[in-house]
Order: sequence, then C-alpha cells, then structure tokens
Amino acid sequence: MVTAGPTYEAIDPVRFIGNHSSGKMGFALADELAKLGADVTLIAGPTAQKSNAYVKRIDVVSAEEMLNACTSIFSETDITVMCAAVADYRPKIIASQKIKKQESALVLELEKTVDILATLGKNKRESQILVGFALETNDEENYAKGKLEKKNLDLVVLNSLNDQGAGFKADTNKITIFNKALERTLFELKSKTEVAKDICTAILKIIK
Ligand code: C5P
Repeated sequence: MVTAGPTYEAIDPVRFIGNHSSGKMGFALADELAKLGADVTLIAGPTAQKSNAYVKRIDVVSAEEMLNACTSIFSETDITVMCAAVADYRPKIIASQKIKKQESALVLELEKTVDILATLGKNKRESQILVGFALETNDEENYAKGKLEKKNLDLVVLNSLNDQGAGFKADTNKITIFNKALERTLFELKSKTEVAKDICTAILKIIK
C-alpha cells in the first residue's frame, strides 16, 4: 500500500485547507513497487498525477477518508509506504453554506486529524514493513529519528525543504533514509523515479 498527494480539509462547500504536495513521489513509488512485482494499492489524495493500469488506485479527498481507506486494507498488506502529505488539522465545523465576507477578521477553529501512520504503526504485525516520510525545515535528522521510534516504523525517508530541488513540486528529490538501528544512508539529488528505486532497494534489504 502506498499513500500519495495532499489531503483537502473542507472549510465550506467551496473552500478547503490543503498543501503543495504534487503526489509525484508516491506515484513514482507505486510504479516502482509494481514493476518489482508487488500487488500495489495506491491511496491518492487530490492530484493531477496519472497512475498506471497495473496499480489499483483509490481516490480520497480528506485525511479521514484516507484513514478509512488505509485501515480497511492495512491488515492485508506486507509493505506500506506513507508518502502522503496528510493535513494535521482540519476545520472543527464545516459550514454548510459558503461563508460570506465580513467586515471583521474570520477565525477558524481547527482540530487535529488522526495520524494515520502512527495508527498503522500501533497495529502493525512483526512481519509487516512500514515506511514513513519526514519533510522538515529544521533539526531534520532528530525529527526524522524521533518519528521512526514514535510511529513504530521500519524506515523513515527524510527530505528537507532546505535542499535545492527537493520537496513538493519538483521532479527531483534528495533523501536520507534511516533504518530501525538509526543507521543513516545519504543519497544524491535524483529524479523521483530514481529516488523511488533507492527506497525500494532499502525495503528489499529489510525483507532479505
Ligand atoms: O509527523 P509528520 O506529519 O511529520 O509525519 C509524516 C509522516 O506521517 C508521513 O509518512 C505522512 O504520510 C504520515 N502522516 C499520516 N497521517 C497524518 C500525518 C502524517 O499518515 N495525519
């Protein structure tokens, strides 16, 4: 199972809170895993990316829909890579009508969404492999290692917004992978297809 893209959290019927994730990294990973012979289900947030016919795709919009899709198939999966940029907060109340412009400022109350990756980490069987991403802007390595332990991951893939050519909309990415032993592997800036291959190689190393 692979998750990809952003989630959109509705404010009213015409507005949402979202982020700049293009879905490119997750779609490249789904492709690469399928090429290696995996039976891939791709759970995708709103994105313009096209998936290949050999990947089973489930389209979702919100973090809650992504959570439901993930939890419904997680027990059947061997490898899960959570690449999606899931919203951490959503409006507490979704207005049923378009919110009208007012003279004063508008305050939206936000509530936390469920951390899908942490939820799966809690329910993970010993034989299942769980890979998470960390996109950080500061103190990158410590946050990434913290996520690995807190969310019960087998690998965490760190990309920093400080690296040129890495991040949301680029066709390239520069990653560092940490394994459970907190060993670090640094990679060069590469196309997201090549990065996907490196992540798959790291996953295959755990299986062997
Ligand atoms: O804690 P943080 O959001 O930085 O963790 C990023 C990782 O957790 C990514 O793998 C992302 O897909 C996943 N995540 C999730 N559900 C959330 C937030 C993050 O699955 N609500």
